Amino acid sequence: MSSTENLLQEHLIVRRLGSIAKKCSDGLYTNKNIPIEDIQIISVVIEEFVDAFHHGKEENAYFPITKEKNSFSEDIRKFLIEHELGRRIAKMLRRELDLLIDHKRYDKYEGLKWNNKNKEPVARFLKSYAVFGSDHTGKEDVFFKTIQEKDSLSEEEDIQLVKHYELCRNQVGGKARIEEMIRLVGYLEDREWMK
Ligand SMILES: [Fe+2]
Ligand SMILES: [Fe+2]
Repeated sequence: MSSTENLLQEHLIVRRLGSIAKKCSDGLYTNKNIPIEDIQIISVVIEEFVDAFHHGKEENAYFPITKEKNSFSEDIRKFLIEHELGRRIAKMLRRELDLLIDHKRYDKYEGLKWNNKNKEPVARFLKSYAVFGSDHTGKEDVFFKTIQEKDSLSEEEDIQLVKHYELCRNQVGGKARIEEMIRLVGYLEDREWMK
């Protein structure tokens, strides 16, 4: 798979995660019974798969190589700002989620319990992340397809990038960890509250 196709494929996973976040947000607004643990999984996959792995590959490998070409630098500058926005939302989501856990009432069999605080901030940040995910990947898709159409990357650059991706993957826990993240997306899609 080419270095560009690889990122395009990962966008499909980012968008699946966005749909999960949106559904979860809707569920919280309508008082559906959603386990805190499931939202923690969403938060982990956002942090590890999207922020660290996928955006890391773009920031450390793909963008530095494509920046010099065909005046792409302005697009890339915007994408980097958007990554920061994504990370900010993810951080706020994590913080608000932690505030909602009743740490005193943990039950070995039933798991974590919600406290009585307002769930609205978590619902809001989940929704923000869903909007961010679809908006950002949509714009990048256009950019990646332009690169493909213009054949902007040489074969050597492409090979170099794919190799660099492997390094990025090792930095975030390796192949098994990334496969686990993708498996978790499927797990969340099968949860009762997703239906
Ligand atoms: Fe990106
Ligand atoms: Fe991306």
